[in-house]
Amino acid sequence: MSDSDAARQVFEAFVRALDTDILIVTAAAGAQRDGCVVGFHTQTSIDPSRLLVCLSDKNRTYRIAQAAGVLAVHLVPPDAVDLAALFGGETGDEVDKLAECAWHPGPGGAPVLERCPNWIAGRVLQRLPLGDHGGFLLDPVGGQATSGARGLRLSEMPPIEPGHEA
Ligand SMILES: Cc1cc2nc3c(=O)[nH]c(=O)nc-3n(C[C@H](O)[C@H](O)[C@H](O)COP(=O)(O)O)c2cc1C
Repeated sequence: MSDSDAARQVFEAFVRALDTDILIVTAAAGAQRDGCVVGFHTQTSIDPSRLLVCLSDKNRTYRIAQAAGVLAVHLVPPDAVDLAALFGGETGDEVDKLAECAWHPGPGGAPVLERCPNWIAGRVLQRLPLGDHGGFLLDPVGGQATSGARGLRLSEMPPIEPGHEA
């Protein structure tokens, strides 16, 4: 095995051990709308407030987010595993996920999911090439959050085949 194969195996075992909150990121541009589950995300700054979400360049949500001014980012309530399965296990290239759940247009038209009371809308400040995912650096412009809210974690998700290969 080459050094780089070994390093890759170590990397994959390392990241498998990480847990994270499952988010659903939605986007709208023109008449197009979609959303997908996102496990790759992080706060990058306190003041100013900044959140980075990473979208696979294979996903329909990524393509729409290229033209969207605002993305909506939702915490998934722990009892909404079915919603995470819809947004993570189906692709908008085949299924209209937003026809299967309740939502309303939020800032910039980004769909706000009714079953997710904790969400933020973020203006897209930068689009960053980060490998097979693109980073979207967000400046929060709205949303709502209840104190003590807790979201569904990766370790609590059933095994789901992503709607698009990564
Ligand atoms: C646990 C889990 C984590 C995921 N994390 C990400 C992620 O960080 N970024 C991303 O773009 N897709 C991620 N996905 C995959 C997409 O949610 C999935 O491919 C989705 O079906 C894409 O839908 P779309 O083509 O409608 O955008 C994840 C899926 C699962 C099940």
